[in-house]
Amino acid sequence: MSTRHFLSDLDLAPEELDRVLTLAARMKADPYAIRALAGPQTAAVFFDKTSTRTRFSFSAGISALGGSPLVINPGESQLGHKESIADTARVLERMVSVIIWRTYAQSGLEEMAAHSAAPVINALSDDYHPCQLLADLLTVREQLGELSGRSLAYLGDAANNMANSYLLAGVNAGMHVRIAGPDGHRPDPAIVAAAEERAAVTGGSATITADPAVALADADVVATDTWVSMGQEEEKEQRLRLFGDYRVDAAAMAQAAEGALVLHCLPAYRGVEITGEVIDGPQSAVWDEAENRLHAQKALMAWLLVESGRADEQTVS
Ligand code: CP
Ligand code: NVA
Repeated sequence: MSTRHFLSDLDLAPEELDRVLTLAARMKADPYAIRALAGPQTAAVFFDKTSTRTRFSFSAGISALGGSPLVINPGESQLGHKESIADTARVLERMVSVIIWRTYAQSGLEEMAAHSAAPVINALSDDYHPCQLLADLLTVREQLGELSGRSLAYLGDAANNMANSYLLAGVNAGMHVRIAGPDGHRPDPAIVAAAEERAAVTGGSATITADPAVALADADVVATDTWVSMGQEEEKEQRLRLFGDYRVDAAAMAQAAEGALVLHCLPAYRGVEITGEVIDGPQSAVWDEAENRLHAQKALMAWLLVESGRADEQTVS
């Protein structure tokens, strides 16, 4: 049985994504219906960047599954400075059930996964935030039902991890994803090509545009993210000027479908990428979205462990 990792949104086939979301909904509806995973499970949770939601949702979720999280902050292990990623993986796979890592380079996660028999989960990299998208899709499914055929508009920094993950996870769920951002800040062509390839299988579609109106037109879901991601703090002034036309405000929401759902992974900067009126308004689902990190990641971990032969299949069937 080979190990399953979750490094990017397309690491789940469309039917697997559906299965994980269904399991997450079941776990949310009745946290006691699905028992803790058989046998002791320890999870290594590394943070190279700061976090609130990811830190708490993984810690709480691992505990809820009957496991123990070992959270490692920057500078607390040998990883990456005194010891290679590959050697760290070779040691950890013998001691923990799953490795969860928030880091900068996607290549680091890939190297960890290449040398680990324990599943590796991307808890955010410069390129993707796939765990966030599981929570987002669970939220949309709860509020709007069937994901397939729904349209999602993402406005703002269209070259960041959230834009990439909306694109890939959205089309993986059969959605029509429309990403709007200024010149030089739209998804890499290789990511767009991967999205188009998956969309051809699921019936979704990918539209990349500079025009927020094109993305917003009658959209069922409107999403955005910070204009200044972690590690980009020095570019803050320039970025705040650059993305000004892509703010999610009442005028933007008026172009979306009536009652369109608003998503933001948080932390949000009210008055910058999204107005307080919108994020605190009746169409906002951001608090459910944040809560759903917990349920989605519990389901993901249980599913990956079972698929990788590291937990009892009975527990999640
Ligand atoms: N959305 C999200 O990942 O939040 P944190 O950075 O607080 O973990
Ligand atoms: N794009 C943001 C997401 C934060 C959860 C960042 O990388 O900082």
